[in-house]
Amino acid sequence: MNIVILLGAPGSGKGTVAGKLASENANLKHVSSGDLLRGAVAKGTEAGKQAKEFMEAGKLVPDSLIATMIKDVVAETTGDVTMLLDGFPRNLAQAEILAEMGAPVKSAVLIDVPDDIIQDRIAGRRTCPKCKAGYHVKNLPPKVEGICDVCGEKLVIRKDDNPDTVKDRLVVYHQQTEPLIAYYKGKGLLKTVDGMTGVDNVAADFLKVM
Ligand code: AP5
Ligand code: MG
Repeated sequence: MNIVILLGAPGSGKGTVAGKLASENANLKHVSSGDLLRGAVAKGTEAGKQAKEFMEAGKLVPDSLIATMIKDVVAETTGDVTMLLDGFPRNLAQAEILAEMGAPVKSAVLIDVPDDIIQDRIAGRRTCPKCKAGYHVKNLPPKVEGICDVCGEKLVIRKDDNPDTVKDRLVVYHQQTEPLIAYYKGKGLLKTVDGMTGVDNVAADFLKVM
């Protein structure tokens, strides 16, 4: 098993690209820290109860809380698999925790999207609460409005997708997550793809450079 890290602002397309690539390539596994946390919140686990407030405020949950979840997934993933790790690490401390887990990081791929596009991307996002498929009302609409193409579930708007929380998430991204770009560049692992070229092109470029 090895790991490809997805870097990029909220709404840059990390979940869309990783979900698409994993659905098309049997040896790719999409692991989203946000989906793991939203799952825990929905189930009402102890971790979910702790995470809920931070997530709704657009703040990072405590490192140890998310690191425990990621450690479990890393431990249970074996064989000829590349893990597309979406949303972890989110700061330098988490990058060190990941390094200590011992799983080899093959590359860190930044999906580059300017800030002024983010609000529109997130305002139009619709998510399937069941199978986690993601849509956009204009850029990537489902076949039937409001219904998931994959599993038929009613699509929802994420709680943290209101404009004020998105502003806070962008501040957190620039302050805490962006330093990871220099961190992985320093390790010779950083790749960058243009996130403005449409979902199919971004996914193809990502697969090429990862
Ligand atoms: P998380 O779920 O990771 O959210 P995020 O990083 O803010 O990223 P998003 O999921 O919002 O964006 P995305 O890049 O996946 O974009 P998407 O593909 O959906 O985290 C949520 C919260 O959990 C955090 O705020 C924090 O509280 C907590 N958390 C998670 N991980 C943590 C960690 N490690 N440590 C601490 N706390 C943590 O695309 C967006 C929209 O754009 C969609 O509508 C899509 O259809 C559309 N779109 C995508 N690509 C394109 C394209 N190429 N062209 C046009 N439209 C596109
Ligand atoms: Mg996502």
